Formats: sequence, C-alpha cells, structure tokens
Amino acid sequence: MITFSSPADMRAWAEQQRCAGKTIGFVPTMGALHSGHVALIADAARRADVVVVSIFVNPLQFNESTDFDSYPRPIDDDVAACSGAGVAAVFAPTAGAMYPPGFQTRVLPGPLGEVMEGPNRPGHFEGVATIVAKLLGAVRPHVAIFGQKDFQQLRIITQMATDLELGVEIIGHPIVRDPDGVAQSSRNVRLSAAERRAAIAVPHSLNAAVLAAKDTDDVEVIVSAALAVVIGEPLAKHEYTTVFDATTLEAIVTLTQAQRSFGKVRIGTAVWFGDVRLIDNRDLFPA
Ligand code: PAF
Repeated sequence: MITFSSPADMRAWAEQQRCAGKTIGFVPTMGALHSGHVALIADAARRADVVVVSIFVNPLQFNESTDFDSYPRPIDDDVAACSGAGVAAVFAPTAGAMYPPGFQTRVLPGPLGEVMEGPNRPGHFEGVATIVAKLLGAVRPHVAIFGQKDFQQLRIITQMATDLELGVEIIGHPIVRDPDGVAQSSRNVRLSAAERRAAIAVPHSLNAAVLAAKDTDDVEVIVSAALAVVIGEPLAKHEYTTVFDATTLEAIVTLTQAQRSFGKVRIGTAVWFGDVRLIDNRDLFPA
C-alpha cells in the first residue's frame, strides 16, 4: 500500500492506474475508521480494480471548532486498517495541501443543502461539497462510495457529480449497524458507556416510526411515535426528526399511496448525547 500526502502525487498515481487500464474505486473518509468504513472499502473493491481511501478531517465542514478539535485522529490505526482491507493507496493530505494560501473557490449546494441538517449546520454542506470535489479531482476515481447514514450528504454529492459532469459514479452503501442497531459512526467512540447504551433510543425511535406508518398517513403521528422513544431516554436531547422524500429531501406532511409503494420515503433524526450529535435514517416503508 502506498500513501500520498500531496494532491499532485495522488493524481499522478491515479493517472498511471487509468493508463494501465485499471478502474479506481474511492472511499473518502475523515479517518477514525470502523467496520462501517471497511464495508465501504469492500464495496469499492467489488466495483473497481484498485481502491483508494482518503483520510482528511476537513476544517471547512465543521461549524464548531470544538467539534473539529475533538474529532478522533488515530492515523496509525487507520493506515493499518486500510492495509488490512487491501487498499492500494491512502491519500492523507494536510490542511495546508488542500487549502493552500490563495485558495478561494467553494462549491455551493442548491436546495438539497437548505433542508434537514442545513439550517442547523450553516456552511457544513458547502464545506463537504468543496472538499469532495477536490478529493475527486485528486483521486480521479471511476466510482466513489458514501455511507447512507449521511443521507443528505450522499444526495448532495450525487447531485453535484451530475450537475458538474464529474464523470464519477456515486454509490450509496447501506448503513452498517452495531448488533444493538446503533449506526456505526466515528463519533460513537466519544460517547460515555452510559451514553452509548442510551444511543439505542435512536434506531428504536426510527423503528417505532416504521411501525406507526403501517397504520396512518399522518406524518405528525408517525414522528410523535419516534419522539416518544427519544424523550423517554433521559440522556438523549432531541434535535429534529423528519419524514422526507428520498430524492428532493423535502419534508412530507401527509403520505400518499404512491409514496408508500415506491419506497422513496425516509425518516431521519438527529439526537445529542452529551456533546456528541448522532444522526440516523431509514426507509419508512422497508421492502
Ligand atoms: O462523510 C465524511 O466522512 C465526510 O463528510 C467526507 C465525505 C469524507 C468529506 O469530508
């Protein structure tokens, strides 16, 4: 496995692979790799000849400097995990390499960035879209894999790749969950033992909504079923729960029969445990 820290070196290697007729699969990460990331790497390996993983904690997408500072950075473990997973190249640039003096261009997502997480995290999706555009430019992949846990991020990046003709296929990988149902996330390591136990309220709340949706089209009733579970957990602080269209991300108020049958409705939530913010989502009408 080879490691690059400069975008130019990364791109030169990618060009060599392309010239040799190899396809490149890409998994962008902010490190603190867990088995969810390993599943994304395996997915990329099934779809491409060589896999590149980027490890970069992107300052542009953090609203809170404390969140950026406390983001876990176990770089040696991450490089070992990539090597163990059969990754061909790791791209781990410095902030100075990605945002050198004079850097000024930003990618601004459209309406997809203005709903759900958008109002609560000003500038976040602009930071994500900008860094992902830069990473795609350095790695030049044929296919890039993103987890569905960050569903809004996945939609924004898919739209960006289409709108900007980036020539890369964007794949959404199903959420990888711990045995108790909690979605795997690099932030989970920052939960205390009690908070980690309490975090089970998040997937349970979504499951309660799925059950409620079997009997009603009224989204308020469905969201209340989810809320009741979170409110019943003393360590949880609820931020939002929304039922949304999986393509437009627009909030849905009343469900129609068509929405029930086409599997395009999801429910998403954000819940705090101490200073850790967890997000999760799922199909409201699983097959
Ligand atoms: O999902 C993440 O880990 C990050 O938002 C990403 C896509 C690597 C961009 O920094």
